[in-house]
Amino acid sequence: MNALFDIIKAEIEADGPITVARYMELALAHPEHGYYQKQDPFGEDGDFVTAPEISQMFGEILGLWMAVVWQGMGEPDPLNLVELGPGRGTLMADALRAAHALEDFDDAVRMWMIETSPALREKQKEMLKPAMLMPAWRDSFEEVGPGPLIVIANEFFDALPIQQIARADDGWRERLIGMNDEGDKFEYTLSEDLADSSVVPEELRNSTPPGSIFEYQPASQAIMRQISERVVKEGGVALFIDYGHIEHGIGETLQAVKDHKFTDVLKNPGDVDLTAHVDFLQLTKVAEEAGATVLGPVPQGAFLERLGLGQRANALMMNGNEDQVAEIDAAYKRLTDAEEMGTLFKVIAIVPPGFGVPPWAE
Ligand SMILES: C[S@@+](CC[C@H](N)C(=O)[O-])C[C@H]1O[C@@H](n2cnc3c(N)ncnc32)[C@H](O)[C@@H]1O
Repeated sequence: MNALFDIIKAEIEADGPITVARYMELALAHPEHGYYQKQDPFGEDGDFVTAPEISQMFGEILGLWMAVVWQGMGEPDPLNLVELGPGRGTLMADALRAAHALEDFDDAVRMWMIETSPALREKQKEMLKPAMLMPAWRDSFEEVGPGPLIVIANEFFDALPIQQIARADDGWRERLIGMNDEGDKFEYTLSEDLADSSVVPEELRNSTPPGSIFEYQPASQAIMRQISERVVKEGGVALFIDYGHIEHGIGETLQAVKDHKFTDVLKNPGDVDLTAHVDFLQLTKVAEEAGATVLGPVPQGAFLERLGLGQRANALMMNGNEDQVAEIDAAYKRLTDAEEMGTLFKVIAIVPPGFGVPPWAE
């Protein structure tokens, strides 16, 4: 038990069981005790490692991707370069170093970091000091100024609150979190009223047996809708890299991680990372409803290969000593191998209609 446990318990005792989304929101983003608000969880010494923290090659390749996309857009100036949930800022620092080769790109960029954690904003500021560009930090994408954009987000959607709906004998009910009888543990329960089952895809709604859980992503969908509408109206590309599935699935993917190990979702809120697999199909539908075209999903390994990660790794290995060669080789494999991040992680791009299919999205 910790301070946030008491805060959540008080909310449940006052108003009744809370949604899974509310629990995640408090656990990850409570202003004082939320997981991302109070710590830097990245890296081997932290709780988990993300792709940009594995190797500088990841951000560098994405920097070259940004420059090429900008050229393909007709080199708009100004260009809004937006990163959602930048973590330590490593991806953008590496990307800007690589994109710096195109001098005009630097001049055109107006950079925005969408980040709710004050602790991580500070990290990002430090990380971006060597770059010639300082971003404007904002809490939400809606605050990004007008004009064409390139948006990038790595492992952003998986950190946003999800809802769970469970099939009961008489229909679908919202899965909620309440207290056990002793008041010393959270436990799952179901809503008293039947839930709006239209959030469950039609093909699953009636055929799914009692006890099944379906996860949906209202927070991610709202952001996807805003970004898609902007891309259609003002031009640009939004690239999302995340782990998840490309078909709707029944089952629970919400998970808690601490010190690189899985742990109990309902214990130690604010001290453990909570994530859920991204349902790329739900997000694709939202983007298409907003009039955008969705490219992909492309597996991360294939995407990075098409952008030249293999050549970049080889070039770095030619100049490295034995230890460095081993390190680069290991990072390359971790980012691209099917048993590592190569296929579980996927890439989708949101583009305006008529954008075409560039080689990286084929
Ligand atoms: C899993 S981390 C990914 C970090 C980084 N992109 C990387 O690859 O290392 C999630 C990031 O999203 C931020 N975040 C979480 N919820 C957010 C929200 N609602 N709005 C903006 N940023 C958010 C977190 O503070 C953190 O920077």
